[in-house]
Amino acid sequence: MAMASESHILCLLLFLFPLSITAQTKGRITLGSSLSTLEENTSWASPSGEFAFGFRRIADTNLYLLATWFDKIPNKTITWYPTPSNTDPTVQTGSEVKLTSDGQLVLSDQNGQEIWSAETSNVSYAAMLDTGNFVLASNGSSYLWQSFDHPSHTLLPGQVLDPSNSLFSHQSDSNYSIGKFQLQMLNGNVVLNPIALPTKNSYDAYWTSTNTQGSGSSLSFDLSGYVYIEMWNGSSVNLTSGDTSTTKEFYQRVTLDPDGVLRKYIYPRNGTTGSWKPSWSTSWWVPEDICNSALVQIGSGICGFNSYCILEDGRPTCGCPPMYSYLDPNNTRNGCKPDFIAQSCDTDASEAGVTYVIQDLLGANWPTSDYERLTPMNEGDCRRACLEDCFCAVAIFGSAGCWKKKLPLSNGRGHENDAKALIKVAVSISSLPSPPQELLERKRNRSKLIPVGAAMLGISVLINLFLLSGIALSLLLPCCRKSKRLHQDSDCKRKT
Ligand SMILES: *[C@@H]1O[C@H](CO)[C@@H](O)[C@H](O)[C@H]1NC(C)=O
Ligand SMILES: *[C@@H]1O[C@H](CO)[C@@H](O)[C@H](O)[C@H]1NC(C)=O
Ligand SMILES: *[C@@H]1O[C@H](CO)[C@@H](O)[C@H](O)[C@H]1NC(C)=O
Ligand SMILES: *[C@@H]1O[C@H](CO)[C@@H](O)[C@H](O)[C@H]1NC(C)=O
Ligand SMILES: *[C@@H]1O[C@H](CO)[C@@H](O)[C@H](O)[C@H]1NC(C)=O
Ligand SMILES: *[C@@H]1O[C@H](CO)[C@@H](O)[C@H](O)[C@H]1NC(C)=O
Ligand SMILES: *[C@@H]1O[C@H](CO)[C@@H](O)[C@H](O)[C@H]1NC(C)=O
Ligand SMILES: *[C@@H]1O[C@H](CO)[C@@H](O)[C@H](O)[C@H]1NC(C)=O
Ligand SMILES: *[C@@H]1O[C@H](CO)[C@@H](O)[C@H](O)[C@H]1NC(C)=O
Repeated sequence: MAMASESHILCLLLFLFPLSITAQTKGRITLGSSLSTLEENTSWASPSGEFAFGFRRIADTNLYLLATWFDKIPNKTITWYPTPSNTDPTVQTGSEVKLTSDGQLVLSDQNGQEIWSAETSNVSYAAMLDTGNFVLASNGSSYLWQSFDHPSHTLLPGQVLDPSNSLFSHQSDSNYSIGKFQLQMLNGNVVLNPIALPTKNSYDAYWTSTNTQGSGSSLSFDLSGYVYIEMWNGSSVNLTSGDTSTTKEFYQRVTLDPDGVLRKYIYPRNGTTGSWKPSWSTSWWVPEDICNSALVQIGSGICGFNSYCILEDGRPTCGCPPMYSYLDPNNTRNGCKPDFIAQSCDTDASEAGVTYVIQDLLGANWPTSDYERLTPMNEGDCRRACLEDCFCAVAIFGSAGCWKKKLPLSNGRGHENDAKALIKVAVSISSLPSPPQELLERKRNRSKLIPVGAAMLGISVLINLFLLSGIALSLLLPCCRKSKRLHQDSDCKRKT
């Protein structure tokens, strides 16, 4: 009797929760199953539990990303996410992904509006595979749709990238909107190039595979962890030849990172194995030095406009010239803006109470922003030439002469031995404790760069105040004059 009622309860439970139970058998997800951001930490796992599919919450936000990830790694590293064209792939609380009864995989937002869907027909089930591939399949053996065919930023062992696909970087670790960089197969080569947003058209490559021109057919990451370019004639070119880590010992991924570097990462499967720590280590990357990689003719290059690239611990960082600051403090790759009003050829700077001076930045150069080359020329003449030219924003002085540059500056590099950047900046005449030329003389001694920099920073606060009041005045005054002339009674007059 007791046995009977127990099995009744079991039947009842089975009846009440048919989806969650069938969804977990054999790793197959049946038609009609769904996941919601409202049920935290629910996901569809692969049979081994190594990968999962579902929503990941973006750190410290109420935004979620539909994704697949390494489920046994504490950080749950994301390996794939759908990339709806030109929109932010994140969704808000209340969003849902559903494998509909007619076999469509549909992501919809909190209002039920469709955001993205996998375009297929005749699907009988979905499955998260142990390779990290999320598939939609028919009862036959074929996969009708697979995440491996629609990569985002990462390739996994077993995945092949052909010329119809690309990898795209995302903005940052906390922002999955499409970023600046692309990996694609082009004319037989694997190339890395910046893209123009929002159209995604490709700029010049900053890295290109060698010995593959016209002959490469696809980029393969095989199940033993080798990355190579397969050729049309059947041979192959290894990319990661120095790396001997095996997929038996390590989780592996090849990712186009937000900084534009393509890196192969490995993570010990057993946590602390030997000298390996439980974290992702880089075992291979290209380009070797992205800051000095090939120049990109249009677009900003590796860093944003008006900034320069410096390699620190193998990672590119983007710096701003003196008296320039980041356009977006949360994303230093988005470029820099002057903290002063750029020189105008129409107005006399002294009327606004400012004067333009040169600040030095050793080693910086923007090789593609030239508009005039003056050679031979000494440094003093180079400074003067830039100061006297209202178009000149920066001059680069090197042993070969003087190059004048205009805004916005692109392809900035911070480690050029034979270059001194002469940055033209505005300073307020009255706030200067000493003539600007004296400051510059002191600044020539490199060991004094930091104290001088700090002093200039202090001054720049004053300058900014001055500039602001200058702007306010220049906006108010002409308006008043004009309106006085035109009609006696004006808004402007009433305000003053
Ligand atoms: C979901 O996972 C996070 C991180 O592992 C944990 O902090 C949180 O408590 C979990 N939430 C639920 C409802 O289990
Ligand atoms: C789907 O199945 C129907 C009926 O079996 C068939 O006619 C149709 O061609 C299939 N469509 C695809 C895209 O396989
Ligand atoms: C696939 O097979 C399952 C079980 O064998 C069956 O219930 C289902 O109707 C089949 N689906 C299609 C689309 O044929
Ligand atoms: C992500 O970056 C894009 C581009 O910079 C920006 O438009 C968007 O607002 C950012 N999203 C979030 C959630 O910060
Ligand atoms: C295939 O083509 C590459 C590049 O064109 C060449 O180096 C290689 O020798 C060829 N291999 C075979 C087997 O023909
Ligand atoms: C590529 O690497 C694999 C594994 O190390 C090796 O077996 C193969 O010979 C290499 N191929 C070439 C062309 O170097
Ligand atoms: C990882 O650990 C498990 C048990 O702890 C062991 O069976 C397995 O051989 C280990 N694998 C490697 C590659 O060390
Ligand atoms: C996990 O992610 C955080 C933030 O991205 C990072 O600082 C940390 O090193 C990562 N931990 C591991 C073990 O990879
Ligand atoms: C930078 O991020 C912080 C916290 O995420 C946010 O409050 C702030 O508005 C962001 N600033 C900009 C300029 O986007």
